[in-house]
Amino acid sequence: MFSFDPYSPAVDADPFPFYKTLRDEYPCFWSKEANMWVLSRYADIVTALNDWQTYSSAKGNLMTELPNRAGATLGTTDPPRHDRLRGLVQHAFMKRNLESLVEPIKQIAKETAAPLADMKQFDFISEFSSKFTVRVLWAALGLPLGDEALVREKAVLMVQSDPTTKAKGPEHIAAYNWMQDYAAGVIAERRKNPKDDLISHFSMAEIDGDKLDEREVLLTTTTLIMAGVESLGGFMAMFAYNMADYHDARRQCVANPDLLADAIEESLRFNTSAQRFRRCLTKDTELHGQVMKEGDFVCLTYGSGNRDERQYPNPDVYDISRKPKGHLGFGGSVHACLGTTIARISVKAAMEAFHQVVPEYRRVQEQLPWLPSSTFRSPMRLELARG
Ligand code: HEM
Repeated sequence: MFSFDPYSPAVDADPFPFYKTLRDEYPCFWSKEANMWVLSRYADIVTALNDWQTYSSAKGNLMTELPNRAGATLGTTDPPRHDRLRGLVQHAFMKRNLESLVEPIKQIAKETAAPLADMKQFDFISEFSSKFTVRVLWAALGLPLGDEALVREKAVLMVQSDPTTKAKGPEHIAAYNWMQDYAAGVIAERRKNPKDDLISHFSMAEIDGDKLDEREVLLTTTTLIMAGVESLGGFMAMFAYNMADYHDARRQCVANPDLLADAIEESLRFNTSAQRFRRCLTKDTELHGQVMKEGDFVCLTYGSGNRDERQYPNPDVYDISRKPKGHLGFGGSVHACLGTTIARISVKAAMEAFHQVVPEYRRVQEQLPWLPSSTFRSPMRLELARG
């Protein structure tokens, strides 16, 4: 009897055979372990994303949601409330003018990669991607220097859940509470001494007299830190994992760094770190002969839609010349990721600098220690060796 438990370590280790069975045999599947429906085909996921009136985000979008977030952040509201929040955050992103960060990001990448010149074997995450990610995000968001390692540790804890209870454990909730206190301190400080950063622009954002209330500012700032640190760091690790395993693709990118842009899009399709998000039904909905009830939760399995052979030929082949139009690595429709520009700029700059210092490398661990998270999939440690 087939079962699919998005909390299980077996799914973390290799979700793709599960996804294939789901797509081919159970395209609208009730997971009793997760207590929700699972949609796995590309077309069904896109339909659900576009029909946000039925597939609502207002009860939360993380597979295991954090307290108080529902209804108060970008990812956890529906239009028109969501449009208002998104407009104000986008306004802050525009004001910060992310293009002006390109040169500083390249510089951060070079500086972070330099110490690797002396290392034969290292953990890509602790020695490179975490250091790089926090420096970039601190510059973009405007977080004070000094607490980077602690903030990262809390952000990574917040997105985890306990695979046994399938809920957030006390350590995850404590990390979330800590992050809210931290964000409140940063917001207060930025309001006193505004700078040219996202949090300053965002916490004072106003369009035609419309401002965010305190809870929206606090929880959206908390979400931006979590999304920035975990999504960007997690994806960089997944990208390096692909580059370590697919030698031809890596050699092409080392010889011609412009190809990194295509390789990044293919990695977002092939094995994005943002695998699964949740929606809640606002009315009874029939799909593939199943009746899903109003109030039921639905898992949108982006990682599976991206491997759907109905959408992408030979989906299990990592092909950096594919240019995978419409991939779901950044979600889609009204909730499409807001961090796409900074993510693309950052990963390209980081890997270009990394390849200059470490052009040939391979993965050391056969089995990776995967983050215990039902939403995200990325390794907690990625040992690479030169050669
Ligand atoms: C490569 C790295 C990243 C990946 C793979 C990624 C992926 C995603 C995905 C799949 C969603 C949709 C969630 C849903 O459907 O409910 C999303 C939303 C979001 N992301 Fe990202 N993300 C990345 C980086 C970032 C960064 C760096 C930031 C901010 C600094 C960010 C901010 C956001 C925000 C604010 C949303 C909510 C948008 C909305 O609901 O309107 N992301 N991201």
